[in-house]
Amino acid sequence: MELLRDKVVLVTGASSGIGREAAKQLVEKGAIVIACARRFDRLQKLQKEVDNKERLDIIQVDMRSEDEIRTMFTKIKEQYNGVDILINNAGVSHRSPLVDGDAELWREMLEVNVLSLCICTREAIQQMQEKKVDGHIIHISSMSAHRVPPGGGVYAATKHAVKALTESLRKELRVAGSNIRITSISPALVKTALMTSYLKNEEARSMFTTTKVLDADDVVAAIIYALTQPPHVQVHDILVRSVHQIT
Ligand SMILES: NC(=O)c1ccc[n+]([C@@H]2O[C@H](COP(=O)([O-])OP(=O)(O)OC[C@H]3O[C@@H](n4cnc5c(N)ncnc54)[C@H](OP(=O)(O)O)[C@@H]3O)[C@@H](O)[C@H]2O)c1
Repeated sequence: MELLRDKVVLVTGASSGIGREAAKQLVEKGAIVIACARRFDRLQKLQKEVDNKERLDIIQVDMRSEDEIRTMFTKIKEQYNGVDILINNAGVSHRSPLVDGDAELWREMLEVNVLSLCICTREAIQQMQEKKVDGHIIHISSMSAHRVPPGGGVYAATKHAVKALTESLRKELRVAGSNIRITSISPALVKTALMTSYLKNEEARSMFTTTKVLDADDVVAAIIYALTQPPHVQVHDILVRSVHQIT
């Protein structure tokens, strides 16, 4: 894990689920992690749980605000001279059908899952270039980038966008002669708060008792795999499902 030692890693959406687990494990592997989200109390709790507290910094940010995102990157630049690795993980999922759904829920999904990912990516690349590091960006996408569940059209559209953005960024970076890598990871069902709110409590309970879905650390294993390949290896997309899941 020497490849991760002292790397400055920004993990978005680190107050819960996959982001929280990723922040924790990356600290254990020697990285310096900046964990961000809106719920600062949860980030403080995470900081208390890790052994190397000095390696986990926390920042409160609302990913729907470009100003707040920019301020966060400025702080990172001042304190750590910029990021080496960005994990674009923050995301929301609402079941809000196309025929009668709520535009505010659609807007939130588009702003958090797509727009903030683009803004963070732009800011991170700028810092990597200034720092002269061949950094790595990981987009936490979804199996919904590869198939469309009923009622989840806008969520699937955001993740299809992430798929397009991954490929587009890879090409932009190659054309620019950059060795910054871009990886997307596409999990199926993961046992987190996002899944519980998407399925609604009763449905989630029944799903989690009848089907063994992925845990957050199954996704983190894919993140670590992608990050620890030799510098010339770019893992493009990892699709990961529980063996029990059909769709
Ligand atoms: N769970 C699944 O089945 C599944 C499957 C495929 C892909 N994914 C993807 O995995 C990623 C992580 O999801 P998860 O399952 O770990 O869900 P989660 O436990 O609900 O975590 C979502 C994270 O995103 C953050 N977030 C949401 N809105 C935000 C905002 N406006 N500003 C800042 N942070 C915000 C939340 O922090 P705050 O609320 O504290 O701000 C939280 O830390 C998402 O991109 C999701 O689409 C999940």
